[in-house]
Amino acid sequence: MGSEPLSPISPISPGHPIGVFDSGVGGLSILRALRSELPQENFTYLADSGFAPYGERGEAFVVDRARQLAQQLLDDHAIKSLVIACNTATAAAIHLLRAELPGLPIVGVEPALKPALALTRTGSIGVLATRGTLASAKFRTLHESLKEQAQFRLQPCDGLADAIENHDSARTLALCRQYTAGLGNFGAGAGEIDTLVLGCTHYPFALEHLRALLGPAVQLVETGQPVARQTRRLLDSAGLLNPHGAGSVAYRSTGELALLQRSAARWL
Ligand code: DGL
Repeated sequence: MGSEPLSPISPISPGHPIGVFDSGVGGLSILRALRSELPQENFTYLADSGFAPYGERGEAFVVDRARQLAQQLLDDHAIKSLVIACNTATAAAIHLLRAELPGLPIVGVEPALKPALALTRTGSIGVLATRGTLASAKFRTLHESLKEQAQFRLQPCDGLADAIENHDSARTLALCRQYTAGLGNFGAGAGEIDTLVLGCTHYPFALEHLRALLGPAVQLVETGQPVARQTRRLLDSAGLLNPHGAGSVAYRSTGELALLQRSAARWL
């Protein structure tokens, strides 16, 4: 696809679906919150499972995938807005998509550093995310703006999204153990991490493992609800809310559709 310009559809109207994409099944954690916030809306969820994971692939690859997925959702589903349900793709591409598609409301996700600041008592916050997200200029700017207010400990999690994507529970647990240990000590004591940011939309699906490893006192922060509320606000201000829709979801995948359907049946 390269540098071919993106072309919006027109006109967009409230009855059209909201497009949601992720590298794979992780964005289902965002879709879950979207459906609960906007039960009447119709959604098209596109998993890029044929090209997942994104986290270790580099920015140019992710930008190219994000542009192709946005165009596919516009062409095949006439979406009225786009939710990039992927931290890695948001960091790499949201500014480019917004510049190319100025008439389309676009919402992204970023690691919840600000909400974590409001929750921590010890002032020590762990952040799990992909290598791509943590290396991005967008994340670095966010981190720089907040790092005087708490100690953020950052851990790139190579392989974790892939293990979750493939429902490999043993590997998911082993990687959760390795990466949480890499962050340091968890607990309520001075200098201990009491709040953990799940900075990749796949990671909420490892919640049981993380809870078992860290205990009930550590606060685990994900981004589904704020993203869903922001989507509502944007649609509302654009006059694009659909109060009379059927609340349907169409699932599409660039890889194995059965894997996505199995994940949706299990997690939604
Ligand atoms: N779920 C994605 C994210 O939020 C990407 C994971 C991956 O493909 O590596 O970053």
